[in-house]
Amino acid sequence: MEKKQPFSKKGLEWNFKEPSVKWFEGAKLNITENCLDRHLEEIGDRPAIIWEPNDPNEKTRTLTYKILHRKVCEFAQVLRNNGVKKGDRVCIYMGMIPELPIAVLACARVGAIHSVIFGGFSAQSIADRLYDAQAEFIITCDGAFRGAKDIPLKSIIDDALIGNKTVKRVIVHTRTRTPASMIKGRDVWWRDEVEEVIENMNEEALKAPAEEVDAEDPLFILYTSGSTGKPKGVVHTTAGYMLWTTYSFVNVFQYNPGDVFFCTADIGWITGHSYIVYGPLLAGATCLMFEGIPTWPDAGRFWDIVDKHKVNTLYTAPTAIRSLMSYGLEPLKGKDLSSLKVLGTVGEPINEEAWHWYDEHIGKKKCPIVDTWWQTETGGILISNLAGITPAKPSWATLPLPGVKPVLVDEKGDEVTELTDTHYSGNLCLTMPWPGILRTTWGDHERCRQTYFSTYENKYFTGDGAFRDEEGNFRITGRVDDVLNVSGHRLGTAEVENAINMMAGVVESAVVGYPHELKGQGIYAYVVMDSKHHREEDDQLSKQDLLATVSRIIGPIAKPDKIQFVSALPKTRSGKIMRRILRKVAEGELENLGDTSTLLDPAVVDEIKEGKL
Ligand code: WT7
Repeated sequence: MEKKQPFSKKGLEWNFKEPSVKWFEGAKLNITENCLDRHLEEIGDRPAIIWEPNDPNEKTRTLTYKILHRKVCEFAQVLRNNGVKKGDRVCIYMGMIPELPIAVLACARVGAIHSVIFGGFSAQSIADRLYDAQAEFIITCDGAFRGAKDIPLKSIIDDALIGNKTVKRVIVHTRTRTPASMIKGRDVWWRDEVEEVIENMNEEALKAPAEEVDAEDPLFILYTSGSTGKPKGVVHTTAGYMLWTTYSFVNVFQYNPGDVFFCTADIGWITGHSYIVYGPLLAGATCLMFEGIPTWPDAGRFWDIVDKHKVNTLYTAPTAIRSLMSYGLEPLKGKDLSSLKVLGTVGEPINEEAWHWYDEHIGKKKCPIVDTWWQTETGGILISNLAGITPAKPSWATLPLPGVKPVLVDEKGDEVTELTDTHYSGNLCLTMPWPGILRTTWGDHERCRQTYFSTYENKYFTGDGAFRDEEGNFRITGRVDDVLNVSGHRLGTAEVENAINMMAGVVESAVVGYPHELKGQGIYAYVVMDSKHHREEDDQLSKQDLLATVSRIIGPIAKPDKIQFVSALPKTRSGKIMRRILRKVAEGELENLGDTSTLLDPAVVDEIKEGKL
C-alpha cells in the first residue's frame, strides 16, 4: 500500500464494552491513492472497470486505471468547487453506471463521507437517511435503466427533498434523458460541472492532492435494517476497511492479475462497496459491473456476459441462482462459460439444490464455489472457504478467515460445548475485532452498543444462528432476530409493520418471514383493519392499496408477498404479539402450534388458520 504516514501507536486498540475499536491509529492515508494512483505506473492501462449496459445493444465501456484515476480526480474537483469538504456527508443515489464508483471514489478523494442509497428505496426512505446523516450534498441521475424499466431517480430525489433543510447541492448525471426538474441554485448537471473543471484547470491542478485522512476517519455510512423500525447508518472507517476488503478479496477468490471479476451485486449494498469498488480496485483487479438485471432481455443475460467478457470469477447471490435455475437449461445453450475459474455466493444461506446446479451447470464441476458469509457490519467476508485452497462443503460457509474468531453461544452467552447430532448449534458471535468491523452507527453510538455488543458480554453478536461441525466448519442457518432476508435484501419486520401501519384504516399488523422458493424468505403480513375502512368485497383493492403504501414508505423491495386480513392478532395476556404462532401459520404448519394457553383469545388463532393463504 502507498504510505503517507505509518501508524504510530499500537496496530489495534479495542474493547467491546463501549465499544471502541481502533486499527492503525495515527496513520494518514487516502484510500483512493491505494485504489488508483498506486497502480498507474505498472498497470495504468489495465481495465479497472468493464461496464456492461442494461441494453445488450448499447456499447460496453472500459475504464482503465489511468482513465478511472483521471475521472475521479476531475469529479473530486467538481465536488470541491461545489463546496464539499472533508467529513461532509454526500448521499449517492444512482444506477449501476461507471459514474457511480467515480462518485464514490471522488468523495473518498476529498475526504467526504459517502452514503450510497440503493435505487430501489423510496423518496421517504431517502428523506429519512438524508436527515439522519444530515447530508448536504446529493449525487444522482436523471434516471436508471433496469430491465424494461426506467426509474426516474431525480424525480424521486425531488420528492425526498420536500421539507429537507440540509441539502445544498444536487449534482445530476444524465443517463436516461428522463425529463428532470432542475432548481436554480440547488441542482447542477454533472457534465457542465466536469466541463468547467476541465476548461479551467491545468494538468497539475487536475492531479489535486488527495485529502489526507486518519486511519480511523469515517469512509462511508451505509444504512441497513435491524430489528427495530428505523434503519441504522453503519459506519466504516478508512484503513481497517481498506485492509480487510483487499485481504479478503485476494484470498477468498484467489484473484490472479488480469482475471475478470464479475460481482453481480448493486453498489447500493455492502457487497458492491466491498467487492465491486474497494476490494478489486485496491488489488489492481479488473471488475465487471453490470447495469441491468439477470432476466432481461432474457434469462441468459448473465451467461451472455460471462461469454462476451470472458469472466473468470462470478460472485452472485443464491436468490439469483434459484431464479435462473427456474428457467431450466435452455438459456445456457450456446453460451461458452469455459473462462470461469471460481464461483462465489453471498447474502443468504444457499440450499443444496441451488449449490449443485451452480456447480454442475455453471462451473461444470471444475470451479470451486466459495460460500462467503458476512454482513454490512463486518465490512468484508469473515467466514468462507478459499477458492481451490480449502475444501467447499455444499451449504456450509466453512472456515473463518485467518484472524477471525467466531464462537457459538447459547441463550445465556455461554459457549456451546455439547453436540446436537453431528454438530454444535448456537448463536454466532465474534470474540475479537477484525479490521473491517463497523465502528459505530451514525449519530447514535449507544445504538451500536445496544444492537451488537450488549446481548453477550465482550462479544459482537451477528444476529445469525449457526452450526459448527467437529472440524470447525460453520453453516449459517439464518437470522435469529426480527430481520428478514428477502432475495438477499435485508429488511426489519418492525420496519415493514411501521409502513403498513401508515395506511389509513390499519389498526395494527404483524409481519413474519416464511420460506419462499425463489426469494429465500417471503414477507407475510397479518393486518387488522378497522371495520369502517375495510369491507370484504374490497379485499383485493385494499391489498393493492397496502402494497402501494409500503412501496411509498420503504420501496418496492419491501412489498409483502402475502397479506392476510384478520380481525385481531394473537396476543398474550400482557399484550405481546405471539409471533411464533404467526410464523408457523405462515410456514403452513397449522398443526402443532405449540403452547397457546397463554393467549388472551385462542379463537383468534382458529380464525387465522382458516384464513391462511
Ligand atoms: C446477513 C447480512 C454480506 C453481504 C450481503 C448481505 C446473511 C450473508 C451469507 C451466507 C448464509 C448469509 C446473514 C447475515 N448472509 N451471507 N454466505 N450464508 N447467510 O449483507 O444485508 O448485511 O445481510 O445476510 O443472515 O447476517 P447484509
